[in-house]
Amino acid sequence: MRLKDPPTRLLRRAVSAAALAALPLLSGCFWLDGPQSTFDPNGPVAREQLDLFYVTCWVTLAIFILVGSALAYAMIRFRARSDSDEHAEPPEQHHGNPVVEVSLIAASVFSLVIIAIPTLKGVWYTYDVPEAERADAYEVTATGYQWWFKFDYPNETAQAPDATGKLVSAPLTTGSELVIPAGRPVHVNLRTVDVIHSFWVPKLAGKVDMVPNRGNSLWIKAEKPGYFWGQCAEFCGESHAVMRFRVIALSPREFYDWLSAQAAPARGVPAAVASAGAPPRAQFAAYREFRRNEPGYTDKFDVSPLDAWRAQQLPGKDEDPALIAKGRGLFVSKTCASCHTIRGLDGAVGIQGPELTHVGARTTIAGGLLENNRDELHRWIHAPNEVKPGNKMWVNGYLANSIKLTPADEDALVAFLESLK
Ligand code: CUA
Repeated sequence: MRLKDPPTRLLRRAVSAAALAALPLLSGCFWLDGPQSTFDPNGPVAREQLDLFYVTCWVTLAIFILVGSALAYAMIRFRARSDSDEHAEPPEQHHGNPVVEVSLIAASVFSLVIIAIPTLKGVWYTYDVPEAERADAYEVTATGYQWWFKFDYPNETAQAPDATGKLVSAPLTTGSELVIPAGRPVHVNLRTVDVIHSFWVPKLAGKVDMVPNRGNSLWIKAEKPGYFWGQCAEFCGESHAVMRFRVIALSPREFYDWLSAQAAPARGVPAAVASAGAPPRAQFAAYREFRRNEPGYTDKFDVSPLDAWRAQQLPGKDEDPALIAKGRGLFVSKTCASCHTIRGLDGAVGIQGPELTHVGARTTIAGGLLENNRDELHRWIHAPNEVKPGNKMWVNGYLANSIKLTPADEDALVAFLESLK
């Protein structure tokens, strides 16, 4: 087939390819304020990184436009204009123009320098809490497990009853949800117990790897109270894609309320108290009353994620003390206790799985994957392997110990876990 004007055909192809490439962008991938968007920074570290992204973007866009225009000009200016043109001898060839070559080298070096200056500045800034703020920095440790995150508060102490029932100090640890003070820099030590994971809260800071036998760290600062999505960003096994977590930033007062609530041993639901309505903890009770007086209030909490988190701190209104007591017994007899710690439950001192002392007060379960509600708790303990393939609760728990749960057992365990506010 003869083509009258091959360069025109080439141009047409280039335009169709560009249109095809733009389709996914136009079809909705262009949301810039999603829960894991890096275009919506909520702290100085994420903002520094976004600014650097923009600098790089503008420099490369300028290069693209310059090179693209030169290419388009050459294609149009020197195209074959007729059939005879197409088979004509190529024009006289030149190479080695020192002025053009030196200018191109100088332009490349200049572009690299423009990108390198803010890059180095960003590397220094994001590496550690700035000197001026260091005294105010709050310290936490995040540890990666296949496939969930553990969070330790090394400067806080919690209470746990000893064999005689006397309260003694214990480490303060949570899983899947990191609660931090808003407006303060937080220094996060990064550890792992198994393979390489990566800690990433897109709206607060870029990712840093958690490497075995290496003490990495990063710092984050949430400018305002908020609820942020986090994700493991390094392939770490079959359930890597569902290894998630949340960061909840609270105002200082609310943060210290939360700390003291976390420090307390697991909540018991004795029959007498429950029938009279379990007293919610003061700071969150006030919140419930406040919400209840608002028009359109429902117990469904389809409110902001942070409000939903606050609502999650409250005990449910339909607690069944007998069912909860049965669940507490099953937690030990079905060997859950050998992998999970519940401060205040005799024998529950396992450290392979997440700490569950206040699991009912979290908004998520299963490593930040499922919403923490009755249906999802059922789904999770009924067949954890279907939710998170290869997880240790299934492989080392259910399979290794031949754990079988009847529907009644599941109801009781779910009621017990829900009661752990
Ligand atoms: Cu942990 Cu990917």
